[in-house]
Amino acid sequence: MSLITLWLESLLTPCPRYLRRMGFLREQLAIEDRYQRNRASWEPHLTRSRAAILAAADSCTLHRTALILGGGLINDIPLAELAERFQQVVLADILHLPRNRRKAEAVAPNITCLDFDCTGAVEKLYQAGNTLADEPAITLFRHASPTLPPALASGCDLTVSVNLASQLGYLPAKWLAKGRPRDDDFSLHLRRAAALCHLEWLQALPGERLLIGDRALVVRGLDESEVEREVLLGEGDLESPCDSWVWKFAPAPEWDKRHHLELEVGAYVLGRRPFRSPEDIK
Ligand SMILES: C[S@@+](CC[C@H](N)C(=O)[O-])C[C@H]1O[C@@H](n2cnc3c(N)ncnc32)[C@H](O)[C@@H]1O
Repeated sequence: MSLITLWLESLLTPCPRYLRRMGFLREQLAIEDRYQRNRASWEPHLTRSRAAILAAADSCTLHRTALILGGGLINDIPLAELAERFQQVVLADILHLPRNRRKAEAVAPNITCLDFDCTGAVEKLYQAGNTLADEPAITLFRHASPTLPPALASGCDLTVSVNLASQLGYLPAKWLAKGRPRDDDFSLHLRRAAALCHLEWLQALPGERLLIGDRALVVRGLDESEVEREVLLGEGDLESPCDSWVWKFAPAPEWDKRHHLELEVGAYVLGRRPFRSPEDIK
């Protein structure tokens, strides 16, 4: 997609002003564009994500409502299969591009798109402003508590968080970095607080819960040697995954002509034991 087309779509898409200003609309368009450029290298990751979701769907005893968090872009969701298995499928994302909303809702009449902030903190942060100091900003995401519409809070037989947990603090941290100088580890701490809080929140929901998410980002040289690794969620934060794989997110030259960028992704069925407290984030 050309820059002009992207700019036009961004201009014409209805979107709350604070989300636009914090970069959420631009980021969704950019992810979609990145996917189009890297379809072949993304496909194994998307296939594994869809398979993990279907396995979780098949393990549900009741099939009333499936709630998919981070489902705005649809690429990693087996939408038609979920719509066949469940009475209702809800795709929740902080925003939905009109073309994706139309595409999703055209698959089956029991699919709906819900605008929902999975942190419950984004608008509060915007109101606080991007000069907010590091600690209060991290605390906001550590103690955030999103509120689902009542019918979903009590009635989902399956909830899946799809490639979302690591993203929850990403744009907020980027936006905050524009407001004042930040500690070196600020972005990582905020993203980790948001991801751990999301795990706790997910854990407290009824029904089957599946988290598909990246726990580490790896930079590799062209010879595949590891150059850098950033671990967002460590061994102590999560149970063993039921499946894990590498998402070849930005093969060279997408992000850098001398480096590949990869994400280590796991599919985690929640519920066996509580996760580490989000208090313990450093
Ligand atoms: C990497 S994408 C997930 C991949 C996506 N499921 C797909 O089909 O490719 C991250 C998604 O998380 C959404 N997102 C980011 N922050 C969010 C928040 N606070 N609440 C809900 N969705 C959020 C973005 O809008 C984006 O659609």
